[in-house]
Amino acid sequence: MKALVLSGGAGTRLRPITHTCAKQLVLVANKPVLFYGLEAIAEAGITDVGIVVGDTASEIERAVGDGSAFGLDITYIRQSAPLGLAHAVLIAREFLGDEDFVMYLGDNFIVGGIADLVDEFRSSRPDAQILLTKVPDPSAFGVAELDVSGKVVNLEEKPAVPRSDLALVGAFLLTPAVHEAVRGIEPSARGELEITDALQWLIDHRCDVRSTTISGYWKDTGNVIDMLEVNRAVLERVGGRVDGWVDADSEIIGQVTIEAGAEIRGSRIVGPAVIGANTLVVDSYVGPSTSIAPDCRIESSEIEFSIILAECTVRGVRRIEGSLIGQKAEVTPATGVRAAHRLVLGDHSKVRISS
Ligand code: TTP
Repeated sequence: MKALVLSGGAGTRLRPITHTCAKQLVLVANKPVLFYGLEAIAEAGITDVGIVVGDTASEIERAVGDGSAFGLDITYIRQSAPLGLAHAVLIAREFLGDEDFVMYLGDNFIVGGIADLVDEFRSSRPDAQILLTKVPDPSAFGVAELDVSGKVVNLEEKPAVPRSDLALVGAFLLTPAVHEAVRGIEPSARGELEITDALQWLIDHRCDVRSTTISGYWKDTGNVIDMLEVNRAVLERVGGRVDGWVDADSEIIGQVTIEAGAEIRGSRIVGPAVIGANTLVVDSYVGPSTSIAPDCRIESSEIEFSIILAECTVRGVRRIEGSLIGQKAEVTPATGVRAAHRLVLGDHSKVRISS
């Protein structure tokens, strides 16, 4: 069995972070979201992995390399434009050959991995097996309708009037039957070859399409709170470890990871939290569910339930909460300016000011 990991696409919903970073490389607990997917694939016993890449190909290749760090053998497959998930299957035909495969969306996070699902698929081997999860806003997703026996009878991409609240989750277990399906469908109204249409084609041609409903799933929605939530959930499972340096005036409480080269002075860190390599935290409070990436400086500040990306400076800030701060950002007080905020924000930034 092989895996096809989709890491092309545009990433419009996670702007401004995706202006400078492929969305599959957005950090969750200081690790690119794509890495969790690759680890889940390795854990399921699959080693032969094709990664579909687009405009951000060089960034993805730099991060993942030949896959040996994950115990994987990686083949990169270039997609000329994000023409749809079924298009990605179409262009990967040669790599996939006649093997079964799991198609995994590189920006999705499935809590608990896919090993059990792959085992289930291997033993029952339907023509295709999809994962579903209940969502409050199904019209933002591919939506499945099941019959009373739980068989998939209808699939629709982002329907205006959803037939259920069961959304397709970012991993699909597929057999070579899908190749005829992706060749048999036409682009949708948004110009993409939709995987939902390919699966519907299989259903219409009397193929056996089954589903498993899971909980513990995250997909970017442009909603930062979702990202903070998945970060929180992952931090809770990471455990603690101190490889950096903590002075006698500091207090570390709960599950806190302090990477090598990080320095904590006169500060209180309450886990679950992670402090990246070579980050300096001085006279500060870092509260639960916070990830601070490598090479940051946090001084005389309080941060909780937030993600701070690499090389940021936060100095003299009373409290930051529920925030996502992009790489090399600086947050400092506006000294000498009373009752005013001074902002230099990138395109598509969002700022919420407390006063
Ligand atoms: P989506 O989230 O469906 O699409 P997108 O990346 O274009 O995102 P946005 O709507 O925010 O602009 O993509 C799911 C995953 O599949 C993601 O990792 C990108 C990848 N992808 C491809 O590799 N090729 C494609 O043609 C498409 C549509 C997505």
